[in-house]
Amino acid sequence: MANYDIASENFIAESLNNWTEHLNRVYGTRTISAKYKAMEWSGEGHLIKDTKGKEYIDFLGGYGIFSLGHCHPIVVAAVKEQLDRLPLGSKELLHPQGGMLAKKMAEITPGDLKYSFFCNSGTEAVEGAIKLTKLYTKKHVFICAENGYHGKTLGALSATYRRRFRDPFEPLLTGFKHVPFGDAAAIEAAMTDRTAAVLLEPFQGEGGINIPPAGYLKKVREICDHRGVLLILDEIQCGLGRTGKMWGCDHDGVAPDILCSAKALGGGVMPIGAFVGTEKVWAPLNEWPTIHTSTFGGNPLACSAALAALQVMEKENLPARAARVGEYLLRRLHELANKYPQYFKEVRGLGLFIGMEFHTDEIGDKLYGLFFEKGVLVASILANPKIIRLEPPLIIDEKIVDDVIGRFEEALRELRI
Ligand SMILES: Cc1ncc(COP(=O)(O)O)c(C=O)c1O
Repeated sequence: MANYDIASENFIAESLNNWTEHLNRVYGTRTISAKYKAMEWSGEGHLIKDTKGKEYIDFLGGYGIFSLGHCHPIVVAAVKEQLDRLPLGSKELLHPQGGMLAKKMAEITPGDLKYSFFCNSGTEAVEGAIKLTKLYTKKHVFICAENGYHGKTLGALSATYRRRFRDPFEPLLTGFKHVPFGDAAAIEAAMTDRTAAVLLEPFQGEGGINIPPAGYLKKVREICDHRGVLLILDEIQCGLGRTGKMWGCDHDGVAPDILCSAKALGGGVMPIGAFVGTEKVWAPLNEWPTIHTSTFGGNPLACSAALAALQVMEKENLPARAARVGEYLLRRLHELANKYPQYFKEVRGLGLFIGMEFHTDEIGDKLYGLFFEKGVLVASILANPKIIRLEPPLIIDEKIVDDVIGRFEEALRELRI
């Protein structure tokens, strides 16, 4: 891009026009980029810069991708080293990075989880988990949660709750039932002899940062064990330290039979997803590995990024940091909510997985824009703008929180409804 005058209005206008004409009209005309004529250009730590040099504090973190912040030097160095040597594998020879990463996943995941399959995204991890469950159990009924989100490919979409995403594609996979989130008895009541697995997020992200009652997963695990049903946990958004422990299920001290991960796994540098299973459930894949494959999944470049990311996560003890800074951020947000009760309905969350719910969509929508003007990126819930999600990098500290709270308060003072 060396030949472009990236700070010029022409460059931005042309870039937006390219989006409008060749990607999607809505993206090029009705997004925050279009409204404020801003395009991202570089990132470092908790900051993103646009092409004009304006800095934004990233409190959205790519919906959970940037747990290590942007361009973490250790991950970038590992990827550059691999990039110059062998970015993508031959697909004939095995590479050491794949084995090392799978061994690491077995070490850091709970219980007896032991075998990994690497793919390129979260939805693929869920697809793989669904297929493995069908192979192992020879059944096809899955119990999922209302407001759950698991991706948008046809299999994962069958587990996703929201009708707006599902209806145009019906019929989806048969056998997916949705019961209220946080209600273990509802799961038990929905079980039959045909139930293959329960598939849940330990804490719901896209559904609006929903935290179930303590002990929920423990009860679900007991019910699954009692009924001989598998438990699949989708840790794609809430896993890898975000909620203050390595995995969401660690809060209840339970282990699933299959765990799905993605997003932060690539260290904010490479796309990678994984589903990890116990030796028992992996038996069909160990017998017939080529029944589920991916050309790019688990390539050396992505595995190098993930290995470096997990090393940083452990060395810097990011789950503990997320717990400490998250508690502080929640406290400061509760203070704001008490000061502006005319706008706030609720603040909730765990670690650095936080939702602010406002009384109306209009309040959420306007604040989202005002926060952007103040230089803070946040996420609105795709189908529910009255909730704003905060998923900042886990590397932030209390000083950064104070800065952001100051900017939020300025926005709240300026808000006119
Ligand atoms: C819990 C959960 N599962 C699955 C997915 C799908 O992941 P991806 O968008 O990488 O396919 C997401 C994405 O937001 C998610 O939050």
